[in-house]
Amino acid sequence: MKTLRECLKEAAAARRAVGHFNISNLEGLWSVFNAARERGVPVIIGVSEGERAFVGVRQVAALVSSLRDEYQYPIFLNADHTYSFDKVKEAIDAGFDAVIFDGTELPFEENVRVTRQCVEYARKVRPEIIVEGELGFIGKSSKVLSGIPDGVKISEEFLTKSEEAVKFVRETAVDLLAPAVGNIHGMLSGGRDPALNTGRVAEIARAANIPLVLHGASGNSAEDIKKAIIGGVVIVHVNTELRVAYRQALAISLQNHPDEVAPYKYLKDALLAMQKVVAEKIAIFNGISS
Ligand code: G3H
Ligand code: ZN
Repeated sequence: MKTLRECLKEAAAARRAVGHFNISNLEGLWSVFNAARERGVPVIIGVSEGERAFVGVRQVAALVSSLRDEYQYPIFLNADHTYSFDKVKEAIDAGFDAVIFDGTELPFEENVRVTRQCVEYARKVRPEIIVEGELGFIGKSSKVLSGIPDGVKISEEFLTKSEEAVKFVRETAVDLLAPAVGNIHGMLSGGRDPALNTGRVAEIARAANIPLVLHGASGNSAEDIKKAIIGGVVIVHVNTELRVAYRQALAISLQNHPDEVAPYKYLKDALLAMQKVVAEKIAIFNGISS
C-alpha cells in the first residue's frame, strides 16, 4: 500500500490535493472514509489536541489503522495543531502517520527550535512520518465566527513572507509548511471567508521549494482553493463546515424523531450530512466536476 509521502508526491505531480478532515467521533470517521472511498482517493483524518483527547489518542490510531488494514485503503492519521513536543511525541509513539507542531504564537526562533526537535524525533522513530511546520497565525478555533479571529491580520504585509518560509524550511527540515495566506481557522457566519492570496501561495511554494498545506479552508471559495492547489498546496484542511453540517442535521433529526433513543438511528443523518460535505470538498480538491 502507498505511504502518505507517496500519495502527497502523486497529488503534487497531478496538481491535486489530499483532503484533511477533522473528526470528533466515529460518525466523523465513517463520513470521511465513505466519501473518500466513493471517489477512490487517499484521505487524511485530522485530530486536534482537543479532538484526540475526546476520542482517545491510541484509540483513534487503532480506528484509522483498522480501516486501512481491513479495506487496504490509503487513509492516514494526522496529529493536527499540536502545541508541545511532548504531545507530538505522544502521537508519534501511538502510530500517527503525520504530525503538526503549531508554533505560530511563538517567536520565530522558538518555533524553529521545537519544530526541529519534532522532525528529529520523527526521523528517528519512523522516517516515513510526515512532519508539518506552521508559520503565521490564522486563529485557533474551528467555529462559526462573527469576525476575523483576534490576533489575525489578513492584509498582505502580515501574511507569511517567502524569505521567512525559506529560512524556516531550511532550519527545520520539515516535510510540509502551513503558511498564513489570507486563510483563517473557522468560518465567518455568512459562510464566505475573505479571499485567499493565491499569488503569495505560489511565491512561497516556489521560494521554499516545499509542498504547502492550506488550513482553515471552511468558507473559502472553490475557485480560490483550486488556485491555491495549482500554486503548490498538497493538503487542504476542513473542519468547521463538517461541524456545522453535523450539528444542523442532528438538531433536525432529534426534532423529527422525538421518541427515538437509538443513537445509531438518530445519528445517521448527521453522518450523511458530513459525508456530503466531504464528498463536495474531495471533488474540488481533485478537479472532479460534481
Ligand atoms: O486544522 C484544521 C483546519 O485548518 C480546519 O479549519 O475549521 O476553518 O475548516 P476550518
Ligand atoms: Zn488548521
